[in-house]
Amino acid sequence: MSFEFRRRSYALNVAALGFCLAASPAFAIDWSKASGKDIALFYPGQASWEWVLTEKDHSGAPKFRGGKNCVDCHEGEQKEMGERIVTGKKLEPAPIPGKRGSVTMNVKAAYDAANLYLRLQWPDQNLKIKPEGKDQAKVTVLLDDGAVPEATRAGCWGVCHDDANGMASHPAGQDIKKYLAKSRIKITRQGGGLNYKTDAEIAALAASGHYLEYWQAHLNSGKPATATAGHILKAREATTPGAVKANAELQNGVWTVVLSRPLKAAGPYEKAIAPGKTYAIGFAIHDSFADGRHHYVSFGYSLALDDKTAAVPALKQ
Ligand code: HEC
Repeated sequence: MSFEFRRRSYALNVAALGFCLAASPAFAIDWSKASGKDIALFYPGQASWEWVLTEKDHSGAPKFRGGKNCVDCHEGEQKEMGERIVTGKKLEPAPIPGKRGSVTMNVKAAYDAANLYLRLQWPDQNLKIKPEGKDQAKVTVLLDDGAVPEATRAGCWGVCHDDANGMASHPAGQDIKKYLAKSRIKITRQGGGLNYKTDAEIAALAASGHYLEYWQAHLNSGKPATATAGHILKAREATTPGAVKANAELQNGVWTVVLSRPLKAAGPYEKAIAPGKTYAIGFAIHDSFADGRHHYVSFGYSLALDDKTAAVPALKQ
């Protein structure tokens, strides 16, 4: 059977992903004025982009290809989905004992003359198990401005491929991070591997805005948060120094993180953030010193300045 999802998925004209912003001082914003949205993040196991597009693996595949977004079918089911996967009933060959299946994160957004701010709040879990990563917790925002259809339709899934590190088709010895399908000549059920387009083709994609921005806060209790940022196209690549700032505190078992970034794009891999445009946004949380795919992820949501119809509206202060 030929595996034709690539052309078809492009034809779906999905939109972009966005990453969130990092911060100026948190006190610059009166968060009581911003309405919050509870967004469910769940443990995805090895459910890759190719897995969701393959009907024999995922019965939602034909309708997703036909235009129904993940949230249209799954909103409200994330807790049960995460529970099934984290316990190893499906999609997880090596369950981690005690790990929760989902996390509900409250998301608020606001902007001022200079910056966009996102405030993210969720209950911590810190299992006393062997650390995989350097940070006690991390929260990541993916952001797009409509240029990447799979980001609008599927949030983080557009960058999560079957051959990436830790995934079912990962080739031993290779370091394959997140990437967008268009950076590869060909995509199969196993992902795009190392079949990169030429550097010139990838540069042209980037120039057309076909990349996702990411913002990440690195969290360790008792220490100030640090922020990193970058983009995803051929791989996940950091921008140094990044324009994103992070403030965070862990109080009574709840993380409160403010990420912010200047509205203006300062570099080639930053999206300008302006009223009148709808951004795609997706979230990931790593906790308990987890790394790689041992995280919680959200489907795709919308963010817009001054637009209360967006899932996450950012109003001016
Ligand atoms: C047309 C509805 C529909 C759409 C759209 C859809 N799904 Fe599904 N999905 C299902 C159904 C039905 C199941 C359960 C049976 C199965 O696995 O096929 C499922 C199962 C899953 C599972 C396994 C967990 C579980 O509880 O069984 C994951 C993960 C998943 N979907 C992710 C996604 C993602 C990511 C998207 C968007 C890229 C998406 N789905 C789009 C209908 C849908």
